[in-house]
Amino acid sequence: MKKYIVAPSVLSANYLILKEELTAIKASGAQWIHFDVMNGDFVPNLTFGPKILTDITNYSDLFLDCHLMVKIKNDSVENYLTPFIKAGASSVTFHYEALTPSQLTEFLTLRVKLKLKIGLAVKPSTQVDVLIPYLNSLDLVLIMTVEPGFGGQAFIATAASKIKTLRNYLDQNKMQTLIEVDGGINAETAKTCKQYGVDVLVAGSYLFGHTDLKTRVRELMISDESK
Ligand code: DX5
Ligand code: ZN
Repeated sequence: MKKYIVAPSVLSANYLILKEELTAIKASGAQWIHFDVMNGDFVPNLTFGPKILTDITNYSDLFLDCHLMVKIKNDSVENYLTPFIKAGASSVTFHYEALTPSQLTEFLTLRVKLKLKIGLAVKPSTQVDVLIPYLNSLDLVLIMTVEPGFGGQAFIATAASKIKTLRNYLDQNKMQTLIEVDGGINAETAKTCKQYGVDVLVAGSYLFGHTDLKTRVRELMISDESK
C-alpha cells in the first residue's frame, strides 16, 4: 500500500508559536516541512529566508523542502543558494518560469556538485512537458495547483491533471523523480492527486490552525484504498 509524503507548509503556521507548530508537525508523523521563500519579485508576497530556516532546522530534524518563488538577479545560482544550504535546506525547488536558460543549466549541475536534492516547479498555466528534457537531473517536480504566492486558495483541478501526464511518463521510462503537489490540498483534493499518482502532498491552511492536525496529516498520508 502506497504511503504518501506529507509536507506541512509553514507559510500557514502561527509564528508566535512556531516551536509548538513544529512539535505538532513532528508528532503528526509528517515526514517533510515545506518552506516557501518569496521576495515580492516572482510572486506578489514576501515571506522568509535563511535566518528562519536556520532556526527551524536547529529545532526540527524533518526533511526541509524549500520552494523558492524568486528570480535571481546579479548572482550565480550557487551563490544565491549557499545561505539556504548552510541553513540546512534538504531540497531546493525553483520555478521553471523564474530561471533564465543559463541559470537553469547551472542549477542542474548543483545536484552533483553540492550533493543537493533539486526540483523544478511549474505554475498552473505551464505545461509539464517543458520539464521532460530535465527529468533525469531532477529529484522532484512540483506541480502548483494554485497561483504561487498565497496560502488558502482554491485548488485548480485542471492543473492537477498534469500529475497524471507526468506519472505516465515517469513510469514508462522507469524514472524515480518524485511528483509533489502544492496548493489547495485538503482531504478531497488529495484524493484526486493520489488517483493521478502523486508522491508528496504539500498542505498549509488545511493543517495549521486546526486542533486535529494529526488526524488530517494521517488522512493525507494513507492511500484511499487502505480505508
Ligand atoms: C503558495 C505556496 C504553498 C502554500 C499552500 O504559493 O507555495 O506552499 O503554503 O497553502 P495552501 O495549502 O493553504 O493552499
Ligand atoms: Zn509552496
